[in-house]
Amino acid sequence: MRYARIIGLGKYLPPKVLTNQDLEKIVDTSDEWITTRTGIKTRHIAQDKESTSAIALPAARLALKRAQLSAKDLDAIIVATITPDNQFPSTACYLQHYLKAEKAASLDIAAACAGFIYALVYAQGLIESGIANNILVVGAETLSKLTDWEDRSTCVLFGDGAGAAVLSSGRKKSFLASSLGADGSYGELLILPAGGSRLPTSKKTVKEKMHFIKMKGNELFRLAVRIMVDAAKDALKKANLDSTKIKLLVPHQANIRIINAVATRLKLPSHMVYLNIQRYGNMSSASTAIALCEAYEEELIKKGDIVVLDAFGGGLVWGALVIEWV
Ligand code: UT7
Repeated sequence: MRYARIIGLGKYLPPKVLTNQDLEKIVDTSDEWITTRTGIKTRHIAQDKESTSAIALPAARLALKRAQLSAKDLDAIIVATITPDNQFPSTACYLQHYLKAEKAASLDIAAACAGFIYALVYAQGLIESGIANNILVVGAETLSKLTDWEDRSTCVLFGDGAGAAVLSSGRKKSFLASSLGADGSYGELLILPAGGSRLPTSKKTVKEKMHFIKMKGNELFRLAVRIMVDAAKDALKKANLDSTKIKLLVPHQANIRIINAVATRLKLPSHMVYLNIQRYGNMSSASTAIALCEAYEEELIKKGDIVVLDAFGGGLVWGALVIEWV
């Protein structure tokens, strides 16, 4: 049997940092509100010239270096993003070009905050079915470019960043089980209304700011906790495990209160839950990618550990993946 496993992780955060104090000068908000309601203190913001593929590139290079692979070894590149460089070509194609990954089939996956987990599981399928040997999976977002900087209910939440994983085939099972799901009936809760075929760009859509993220935070919050708990439990059950076997939960970083509620329901103490929301805010697909990379860099993950990735986002979409680190 051949099994997918992660052999290299990388990340990149654009250098510009926006603090809560900076936001206090832009909209009617306070460090106290943002900190207590979300857990966020700072976020990184891409420069005008930094596209999603541009920030994905250093993350991908670092993951390849740590995997001791060349881009020429890649059979596929999957970029999870809802902030692509263009509608087309895909962000993955730009990345393929920059990396000179000559034989890599390349595509984007749009599964919002669960995108990195979706992409890992799809890559697992390609590897374990024998279609590919080495795959680069990236979660990269420049949400700041779709943010309405006059809307305090959303602009304090998001940040930019990229995380990458190189997957390769091995002999020991590592991705033990996963649980992916979607419910499109809740699509309006988190949406970029204009710029697609449903509502093409027009002077009216620009004037009405329909090219910015619109979110019904309260309703999402209620769904997020239940869905993330159910997804994690379902994936653990499929792996014949329960939450007592988890060494580290790496959750999507949308709101510290959501993460704490999920941890409580899974009976996990706080030291078993990875947190970086305070530094980066919500980076959609990049959140779990960067969190996994940082947990590894901080030596919180060792061989034999059970790590659970767990995310929820606009679509709605959700995903949990149980990994035994090999
Ligand atoms: O990435 C995956 C998908 N995203 C999520 O899952 C996000 C889920 N939702 C959340 O994280 C939270 O709902 C938010 C952080 C977005 C909002 O927190 P909340 O505790 O649900 O606040 P709220 O929307 O109920 O607003 C409470 C109050 C309102 O004032 P009134 O109407 O009670 O007077 C808002 O106008 O807080 C006000 N408010 C703010 N005040 C200061 C909203 N945003 C701000 C702000 N600064 N930035």
